[in-house]
Amino acid sequence: MAQVSLDNVCKVFKGDILAVNKINLGIENKEFMVLVGPSGCGKSTTLRMIAGLEDISSGSIYIGNKLVNEVPAKDRDIAMVFQNYALYPHMSVEENMSFGLRLRRMPKQEIAQRVNEAAEILGIKRLFKRKPRELSGGERQRVAVGRAIVRKPTVFLFDEPLSNLDAKMRVQMRTEIHKLHIRLQTTIIYVTHDQVEAMTMGDRIAVMKDGAISQLGDPIDVYDHPRNKFVAGFIGSPPMNFMQGQIIKKEGKLYFDEGKIRVKLVEDMYKKMANYVGLEVIFGIRSENIYDRLFISQAPPENIVKVNCEVFEPIGSEVYLYLNTGRHTFIARVDAHNRPRINQEMDVVFDMSKGHFFDKSTEEAIR
Ligand SMILES: Nc1ncnc2c1ncn2[C@@H]1O[C@H](COP(=O)(O)OP(=O)(O)OP(=O)(O)O)[C@@H](O)[C@H]1O
Ligand SMILES: [Mg+2]
Repeated sequence: MAQVSLDNVCKVFKGDILAVNKINLGIENKEFMVLVGPSGCGKSTTLRMIAGLEDISSGSIYIGNKLVNEVPAKDRDIAMVFQNYALYPHMSVEENMSFGLRLRRMPKQEIAQRVNEAAEILGIKRLFKRKPRELSGGERQRVAVGRAIVRKPTVFLFDEPLSNLDAKMRVQMRTEIHKLHIRLQTTIIYVTHDQVEAMTMGDRIAVMKDGAISQLGDPIDVYDHPRNKFVAGFIGSPPMNFMQGQIIKKEGKLYFDEGKIRVKLVEDMYKKMANYVGLEVIFGIRSENIYDRLFISQAPPENIVKVNCEVFEPIGSEVYLYLNTGRHTFIARVDAHNRPRINQEMDVVFDMSKGHFFDKSTEEAIR
């Protein structure tokens, strides 16, 4: 069993740098947990404390029910794969993979068996005799993963393992690590700043900001119900559009008035927005929830707004429209067949049932 739990874990570096601020996180046995967040938010520091490569300033870390605060890295039954996987340049692939086991004086036969098995899983057997410089980036990454697998750890830690690879290789390795998790059935804690990686790989994701967890949950749930403006803007690509404006009440109906455009709230939201009538709020809507009116029959008139299309980008499967209300710019992601005219007024429709509202001062989602 290898659940991992962090209780009020803090890390203060020399010079009073608070890198990790009271993290509470329970990772279940066999779970794929992703820590995601912008640069400097404390992801690597958290991972390194779990690995035992960094002291904990306060709090406790448990691996499989055992308090490991004072347990040295080598005794934690954990394997870590780093971004710069640092293979030994003078050793062959096979030697790189077996090195850790040889250090532990494992019997030769068992080493050979484990290395073969790992190489089989990763499809790198044919590379056994090559040196790292004779490998592509993706192949090197696979060897680094292989080196971790052969140890049969109860927990794998990955720190941005794919960021040195080109875009295509990254997508391929992403799927491979995913498959690996299904096959090995071990606990994985995976750090990335790439929200697409986080969404696609994680059983759960912990979105971090300033050393703390901003939101923890199932990726789709986090996407659909971001708890605050930071998470809303960080998870999703293109990022969620935000506009500042006022909630107004007219003839018993609630509207969001941006200054230039006005849209009606869905009635489901009336109750939670009642206290905000007359106040400024931040409205958020994802690009896929905005449509070109020409493609929507029977659009509710109260959700149609006039905007100016400044740029459009066809990306093949869809088109990104860069729109301007006169006060805010925002992006709509529409069907590939849309061809709006540049710098001309056009009508777009907001799917208000997918709208989000945030308190202007706290930036917390209004619930
Ligand atoms: N050894 C150190 N001494 C002092 N400050 C440090 C040290 N290591 C990290 N920090 C600081 O701690 C904070 C968290 O760093 P960390 O490396 O955990 O961020 P990260 O989320 O992994 O970022 P990135 O995505 O850039 O890798 C940063 O502000 C960083 O400057
Ligand atoms: Mg890092």
